[in-house]
Amino acid sequence: MNQHLRPPIPFIDVAAQRRRLGKSVDEAVSRVLAHCQFIGGPEVAQLETELAAFCGAGHVVTCASGTDALLMVLMAKGVGRGDAVLCPSFTFCATGEVVALLGATPVFVDVDEATFNIDAASLKNGIEVSKKRGLKPRAVIPVDMFGQPADHDAIGAIAEAEGMFVLDDAAQGFGASYKGRRLGTFGLATATSFFPAKPFGCFGDGGAIFTDDAQLAAELRSIRVHGQGSEKYDNVRIGLTARLDTIQAAILIEKLKIFEDEIAARDRIAARYAQGLGNVVSVPRLAAGRTSVWAQYTIRLPKGTDRERFAATLKAQGIPTAIYYPKSMHQQAAYRGFPAADGGLPVSESLSGDVISLPMHAYLDEPTQARIIKAVRGAFQA
Ligand SMILES: Cc1ncc(COP(=O)(O)O)c(C=O)c1O
Repeated sequence: MNQHLRPPIPFIDVAAQRRRLGKSVDEAVSRVLAHCQFIGGPEVAQLETELAAFCGAGHVVTCASGTDALLMVLMAKGVGRGDAVLCPSFTFCATGEVVALLGATPVFVDVDEATFNIDAASLKNGIEVSKKRGLKPRAVIPVDMFGQPADHDAIGAIAEAEGMFVLDDAAQGFGASYKGRRLGTFGLATATSFFPAKPFGCFGDGGAIFTDDAQLAAELRSIRVHGQGSEKYDNVRIGLTARLDTIQAAILIEKLKIFEDEIAARDRIAARYAQGLGNVVSVPRLAAGRTSVWAQYTIRLPKGTDRERFAATLKAQGIPTAIYYPKSMHQQAAYRGFPAADGGLPVSESLSGDVISLPMHAYLDEPTQARIIKAVRGAFQA
């Protein structure tokens, strides 16, 4: 068959997982449709218990999105005007957006060339920049970029020395582990996203917060329902409407049953990519003691490669690609005015210039992956 006439490959094949889950998801949704507790139904508490067991966190508070998960922790800690929150610049905008929403100042720092995760030296620099500007460094939000955990020991030690708390943004990394411990157990709290394209996603928007701090968990439960107190209409703090729908919780309970197996499949697929492409492009590397859930499989193109042309060459063969992120946060119109670590953020900027992500999901079969590898290699021979 002519290569150009082959059907396009999905970037993330949500439908393949849907086929595997089949009736189990239909039945889970039907149970909710039968009991009609669409908000706060029993599946929500069940999911929270199962997620806590899965990652080892003391408390899990589900919520409406990954963005809300980040925002709610900062709200609970009273982060606001005059506070600096250190964020890697090479991330999805939500990481810094929640800081700015509360009137606090996101201070952007650089990332590590090998892992794409927050760089400890740049973090220290960013803390000094914050102090010089008269801001109080309150927190750091490491991001487990593309599924690989940040260096939580190093970041935790810096935060502790400065009296800051750590809010881990594991929107892309939930399921991965650092030195044998699953994400969800580092820092004061961890936020994740259940956006459908995430390694552990639902069929709409959703998120969760993980913490060992019982007091914080109780405050988060209040914040997610308008800051409610023990009496329903006596609100004790300013909050949000940020609950996870019962239907989404029911779906996630079914998906959790196959998540371990999917993580193993993602690992095999990442290994095949590394083997097939490692000598033509820069392939992602895992730092010692870390596993990844491979939210994205992101390669770096050799110097001088025309990225648009490369993407167009693959697209012509039915192979989609995506660029995460063409601009780091400090380069974006909405965030240019916020401070950054001294000396610029050269790694973030060069990553934004040369990264490109290939199709990645647990159902990418070997022949399809071979087709992608051949096309990538072919793009450099042309
Ligand atoms: C690193 C990171 N943080 C936060 C979020 C926000 O998650 P949500 O889309 O569920 O609000 C995302 C989602 O793409 C993300 O990738």
